[in-house]
Amino acid sequence: MENDIEKILFTEEDILARVAEIAGEVTAGFSGRPVAVVGILTGSCLFLSDILRRLPLPLTVSCISVASYHGATSSSGRVTLRQTDLPDVKGRDVLLVDDILDTGRTLAAVRDLLLGEGGAISLKTAVLLRKEVQRAVPFEADYVCFDIPDEFVVGYGLDYMEKYRNLPFIGTLTPEAIRRGSAGS
Ligand code: IMP
Ligand code: MG
Repeated sequence: MENDIEKILFTEEDILARVAEIAGEVTAGFSGRPVAVVGILTGSCLFLSDILRRLPLPLTVSCISVASYHGATSSSGRVTLRQTDLPDVKGRDVLLVDDILDTGRTLAAVRDLLLGEGGAISLKTAVLLRKEVQRAVPFEADYVCFDIPDEFVVGYGLDYMEKYRNLPFIGTLTPEAIRRGSAGS
């Protein structure tokens, strides 16, 4: 699996050091107030578990499952909810956690759901990565671990065709691995 990696962008050490910094900023931002942390499945799972353990706040944790990618290395443009019930965030201050801010569609759709139908009173977002691209919808993340150029990356929760989420670093794929994945082999 590691042979499929062309270039490592961030090692586990880089990531954990930066997550600790961001967790400090989030902790200061909420200054002891209760927070409902909501992770977007599946990509945020590693970042979520790492940041949670560094937030000394009275918090609850839930996850929301959405689909915005359908196999390729670019966004499909549609965001669909994969569950019937929203996390219970009524009257809560929410910290929404995701792996990557790319087109902005996923985060904007989930934010609108939680603040609208979900009844959250406020919402901040924390992302592991922010791609330097033109967003399809305007969206600003409040807490960002790393900015990356417009490249497709995997690892640390991020997948390509559901593979590579367990890599303990973030990197780009070789053209050959991308070809093999899209050919379904
Ligand atoms: P957005 O809705 O376009 O902002 O995309 C958000 C979702 O697309 C993320 O939560 C990821 O699951 C996926 N995604 C976007 N860019 C990448 C990437 O470079 N690698 C893997 N997944 C990505
Ligand atoms: Mg994905």
